[in-house]
Amino acid sequence: MKLIFEKSSKGRKAYKLPKLDVIESNLDIPEHLIRKEGPNLPEVYETELVRHYNELASLNYSVDRGFYPLGSCTMKYNPIMNEEVASLQGFRMLHPYQEEETVQGALELMFELQNFLVEITGMDYITLQPAAGAHGELTGMLIIRKYLNDNDFTFKNEVIVPDSAHGTNPASAAMAGFKVIEVKSNSEGRVDLEDFKKLVNENTAAIMLTNPNTLGIFEKDIIEISEIAHKNNALLYYDGANLNAIMGKSRPGDNGFDVVHLNLHKTFSTPHGMGGPGSGPIAVKSYLKDYLPKPVVSKRENGVYYMDYNIPKSIGKVRSFYGNFLVLVKAYAYILTMGKEGLKKASELATLNANYLKEKLSEFFEIAYPGVCKHEFVLRGTMLKNYGVNTLDFVKRLLDYGIHPPTVYFPLIVDEAMMIEPTETESKETLDYVTTVYKKVLDEAKNSPEILKDAPHNTPVRRLDEVKANKELKVRYLFNNKHGLD
Ligand SMILES: Cc1ncc(COP(=O)(O)O)c(C=O)c1O
Repeated sequence: MKLIFEKSSKGRKAYKLPKLDVIESNLDIPEHLIRKEGPNLPEVYETELVRHYNELASLNYSVDRGFYPLGSCTMKYNPIMNEEVASLQGFRMLHPYQEEETVQGALELMFELQNFLVEITGMDYITLQPAAGAHGELTGMLIIRKYLNDNDFTFKNEVIVPDSAHGTNPASAAMAGFKVIEVKSNSEGRVDLEDFKKLVNENTAAIMLTNPNTLGIFEKDIIEISEIAHKNNALLYYDGANLNAIMGKSRPGDNGFDVVHLNLHKTFSTPHGMGGPGSGPIAVKSYLKDYLPKPVVSKRENGVYYMDYNIPKSIGKVRSFYGNFLVLVKAYAYILTMGKEGLKKASELATLNANYLKEKLSEFFEIAYPGVCKHEFVLRGTMLKNYGVNTLDFVKRLLDYGIHPPTVYFPLIVDEAMMIEPTETESKETLDYVTTVYKKVLDEAKNSPEILKDAPHNTPVRRLDEVKANKELKVRYLFNNKHGLD
């Protein structure tokens, strides 16, 4: 496909402006700052413009086009209505420096969202500031660090993280200055309690867990884990990126967690991926309230909302202003439209869909940890090697049948892993189609593996050198270079 610059032809316009009917401003701009010639912009007709961007959009695969089961990423369908709400002018045009009395509605929305999320997580207080899950993790770890320092636990320098954890967990703990200690998973895919007991000691600052974990399995020993942690004056940190599996069913706050982050851009109606904008609020138990980043939104007795900067031991600010406000608007709209029962139902369906697909695929694929799962499950692709292909070849071929690959090679503890999270909004027909495709591709692997090795065949671009594509991005157009791109 040609770039818009390559379609440009001098003098073509996609707009028509009325003649200037006011006096031309004669600002005193220094001569050397004035352009000698106009900017080099593409010049095309409106039809060409519209067709160009539609063609470009049609090359993109998204959850609005098809099945997108990226395990752990919760690429769920986000209702268009919430996008509409977030694009209302009253929200979109707000300025963060506006006086509080002119943004009471926005403050009320944030205040209520804080309350909803506190209720959903079973925690006491919350900040909406962090801009992503990993950012929330770091914020949570910094809160834990400061709390421990203030309470004569400066020597506590270890954070225990399961071997199945998302990579951001150990990274966040390390960034906050802790040493990461890995706890093993047992044969059922849960934290190995015996290993855990050996690792906890007076140096343990915190245990970071996601529940259900990244294998889609609920850590049913969570109460015992929390008791052991607290006996050792360690805090329990909840990575809430998997909340979609248990929202309205089980609350981390009731299971002993002290600090919780949420991924609003997974569970609460903002598309996940492509670098944001996201939102990773951090909720804490009341004893950690004074450490939250400032400000939080509060309400005076007279009903007026305000930004509360009076947080004595605050770790400071972790992001400019109040976080990604429009993501908060979408989360608020989602919670209100789903209601209490709707949120529970979403978790139930996410779990039902995952178990249905798991059972169907188990007829011809190895499930890494059989048994009932929550919102996702992991296939072990080891047997593919018998046919001279691997998981990567297998999932690239799925693209030719119009479905997006699952997350692959994660969690690291499963050989040739494929991690599938269908989410709650997929129909039985879609899941049955997916099963048929997986079976078909497996048959191809057995009978004509070369098709997989070369896949994908029908996509706008064929198989990429993924490292090169990441490290040597070509994003600059060179007008005078005959190759066009730099
Ligand atoms: C289990 C888990 N934890 C943490 C994160 C990090 O979230 P973010 O991508 O918003 O930084 C993810 C992201 O996919 C995740 O799956």
